[in-house]
Amino acid sequence: MIYPSETPELLTLKDVSFSRNDRPILNGISFGVRAGELVIITGRSGSGKTSLLKLAAGLLQPNRGRLQTVASSPDTDSSNALPRVGFVRQEPANQLIAGTVEEEVSFALSLANLPPEDIKSRVDSALQRTGLQDVRQQSPHTLSGGMMQRLAIACALATSPRLWLFDEPTAYLDPPSRVVIQRMAMDVRRAGAVLFVASDPYEWSIGDRLLVLHEGRLVADGHPDEVMSSKVLELTGLSRHQKTHVWPTLFKVEDLPKDMSVDNEHLPESLKPWLDTVPSAESGDLPLLQARGLVASRAALMSASREVLHGINLEIGNGECVALIGPAGAGKTSLLEVLAELSPLDSGEIIKHSVDQPDAEDHCGVSLAFQFPERQFFSETVLEEVAYGVRNSGISNPEANDRALEALFKTGLSLEYTGRSPFELSGGEARRVALAVALALHPRLLMLDEPTAGLDSVDADRIGEIIAVEVEADRKSTRLNSSHTDISRMPSSA
Ligand SMILES: Nc1ncnc2c1ncn2[C@@H]1O[C@H](COP(=O)(O)OP(=O)(O)OP(=O)(O)O)[C@@H](O)[C@H]1O
Ligand SMILES: [Mg+2]
Repeated sequence: MIYPSETPELLTLKDVSFSRNDRPILNGISFGVRAGELVIITGRSGSGKTSLLKLAAGLLQPNRGRLQTVASSPDTDSSNALPRVGFVRQEPANQLIAGTVEEEVSFALSLANLPPEDIKSRVDSALQRTGLQDVRQQSPHTLSGGMMQRLAIACALATSPRLWLFDEPTAYLDPPSRVVIQRMAMDVRRAGAVLFVASDPYEWSIGDRLLVLHEGRLVADGHPDEVMSSKVLELTGLSRHQKTHVWPTLFKVEDLPKDMSVDNEHLPESLKPWLDTVPSAESGDLPLLQARGLVASRAALMSASREVLHGINLEIGNGECVALIGPAGAGKTSLLEVLAELSPLDSGEIIKHSVDQPDAEDHCGVSLAFQFPERQFFSETVLEEVAYGVRNSGISNPEANDRALEALFKTGLSLEYTGRSPFELSGGEARRVALAVALALHPRLLMLDEPTAGLDSVDADRIGEIIAVEVEADRKSTRLNSSHTDISRMPSSA
């Protein structure tokens, strides 16, 4: 799309630089986003994408250069005090504060003193467009990761911002829901402009322009086809291949229901035969874990508890790698938490045949890398965070540190990270630290909740390789991996 030069820019950066604790994060960035444009930003993990969006949202200030947004420039159309910039953050849980979903969406509208009937129609419309009408009375913190992401989008939708800042808005969504958000981004740009961070090449071509950040510098800015066929991707170490392979074969976009919920009734015929299948253990062996008739409910803070697992039967054999997929809100995280004994069962039983038996190599029983890694951190340094659990299982300090370093190395984090605070990492770096925490325990049963969400294709491949190597190296360990995204690279899947 060609924009006449008189089309106003809703975001302008001129030679913007930004650093934190004397570490340069962004360096000499210049570009503009014109009204009507959808601009995609990509780059390896830690390249500065989130920092750039936080600057555009006014949450951080540049150390050098000029940054102007529609929020800072006079706007003659403005008839209300609603924010003109809508920021959907990378970790959706961090921006949710209200008691119910409905209050969350109306929060900014009430602050802007809109009339009650206007607030009501905006909230209804935003909840309907994001498929959240049925949970409007629920506490935001009881929602699944994907639903939280949709709620964060609903909050921005309700305020009709002129400039949209989306930071990996589809990372926790199943592919059908991703398509809905991509279409929404294409739609809302007509009333403003959109800056959209996307690590998956699957999403790059929806943009009018594709920008590539590399180590804090803007190294490409052009039409997506042009950038994707240039040498830039290779030079920055980005990969062109899409992370999602399996979902599109199961779900066709045309099969999508009108809203974003994909419940059992809407599952395509091709998937239905799999629903009652119980994977069998490897020949002869007792399975590592047997789950029979698991029923579990989630207590919602502001409403009655709701049954989320309705009689799950599952067996995991020694050395098996099992992938768990399903739409947002299907119960994937709840199942992992029940299996890890972090949440209670209403009924059913879990038999772990050899998981908790001590062995000569100090394997621990079960470890779970959480969906939102930052929720599990509490230490001052990354090394301490990874070594803590190992030390807690009775292993001496030097060995615990060795195991922590080995696990960090496996996830591709260099020594430079060991002394850094886990709270000051990019989304992808935090995810890799959470994986290292789980790996360092050398568990018999390793469970990963959305281990590749928000990672670029190269880092996502690395996770697939880590799992393949671990399974190969120790067929006595078992990996259970919950993902919307990709089971096809797992060594075996059920
Ligand atoms: N609060 C902070 N203090 C210090 N350094 C930080 C802080 N937040 C981020 N960084 C560092 O700034 C760099 C850029 O981080 P940023 O979050 O912008 O990256 P990103 O491109 O969004 O990465 P990802 O794809 O992993 O989300 C990273 O090296 C990160 O470790
Ligand atoms: Mg980020």
